[in-house]
Amino acid sequence: MTSTVDRARFDSLSPVEGLGGLGRPPADAFLSVRDLQVHFPTDDGLVRSVDGLSFDVARGRTLGIVGESGSGKSVTSMSVMGLHKPGTVRMSGSILLDGQELVGADSDTVRALRGKRMAMIFQDPLSAMHPFYTVGHQIVEAYRVHHNVSRAVAYKHAIDMLGRVGIPQPRSRVDDYPHQFSGGMRQRAMIAMALSCDPELLIADEPTTALDVTVQAQILDLIRDLQAEFSSAVILITHDLGVVAELADDILVMYAGRAVEYSAAEQIFERPQQPYTWGLLASMPRMDRARTERLRPIPGTPPSLITVPSGCPFHPRCAYADLTEGLSRTQRPPFREVLADHHIACHLTSAQRRDIWDNEIRETL
Ligand SMILES: Nc1ncnc2c1ncn2[C@@H]1O[C@H](COP(=O)(O)OP(=O)(O)OP(=O)(O)O)[C@@H](O)[C@H]1O
Ligand code: SF4
Ligand SMILES: [Mg+2]
Repeated sequence: MTSTVDRARFDSLSPVEGLGGLGRPPADAFLSVRDLQVHFPTDDGLVRSVDGLSFDVARGRTLGIVGESGSGKSVTSMSVMGLHKPGTVRMSGSILLDGQELVGADSDTVRALRGKRMAMIFQDPLSAMHPFYTVGHQIVEAYRVHHNVSRAVAYKHAIDMLGRVGIPQPRSRVDDYPHQFSGGMRQRAMIAMALSCDPELLIADEPTTALDVTVQAQILDLIRDLQAEFSSAVILITHDLGVVAELADDILVMYAGRAVEYSAAEQIFERPQQPYTWGLLASMPRMDRARTERLRPIPGTPPSLITVPSGCPFHPRCAYADLTEGLSRTQRPPFREVLADHHIACHLTSAQRRDIWDNEIRETL
């Protein structure tokens, strides 16, 4: 399917943030998000879950999205999938899926895209599975929406998918109900459901958190296979920088609903530019380095997204906020390109960042 990018829409986006700092989508982007805002009005106030976010994912590429709990990762995924309850959310900006605008699209249009064009592995499997239907039935139905095959063929495909995600005795388990599965098995069944239509865009939201290490590796292999076979675009959301290091081509670091750093994965690991990313790297265990004994948590906790701190939302926790002549407390740092294809949001000058990196950070990561 082809469709035209609505250029006029980009020109109408917020002039302050421009196109969320990234400019127009590159020609090879399958998913392009620009200046996305997702706000929830609640009795306690407006929750600014996503507040001016931009990124791209091309076919055959994996984008890792990392950030502490509550940074807006799941809300971003649900926005792309069009899964927020109507009437509960205010969305603006742009989400283009293969050139088709999803912000403001009607729910039938977005529903028709789910399954084959985009699918999601949810953080919470129970939210994705219907309790009254067998696991097999749900995979069969999902498959037959997009494939003109008999029920028997789809049933065989469901068994095959359950086997591929490591469910023992898939021939008998296919007729179980979700509640008959353990938590880890439900997670795998949901993954089977999401992968069953070979989606062009797969969003995996903490896909392996509840699983043991062996199954984790199997699931990540499955995602890799899908990508190799069908050249899918993948968004992998995780707290585990080790997982991202292994699978992601690009990494987006989020804080308080905003992008703080965005670049190729090797750049983020070898030459990170932003204080929050430095903090994350120092505080997160990585499978590729035996350094658990040196983990240093970022002091403090992420802010409420109802009362987001002024200026740079990270300033109450940032060791370098005082170096910016007050800007960190008063002005939102623009999301800008500081090296080729490497964007950050931070008021520090390049000389300051280089100096801090060379003298304080490099040796400790
Ligand atoms: N429907 C909603 N109504 C109001 N607030 C919401 C809603 N959904 C999410 N939020 C809030 O938006 C913020 C971001 O939530 P989100 O689930 O995206 O975080 P996350 O980055 O996925 O965190 P985690 O790593 O814990 O999964 C949180 O403060 C959350 O409470
Ligand atoms: S803008 Fe200021 S507070 Fe924010 S990360 Fe940069 S130095 Fe720290
Ligand atoms: Mg989440």
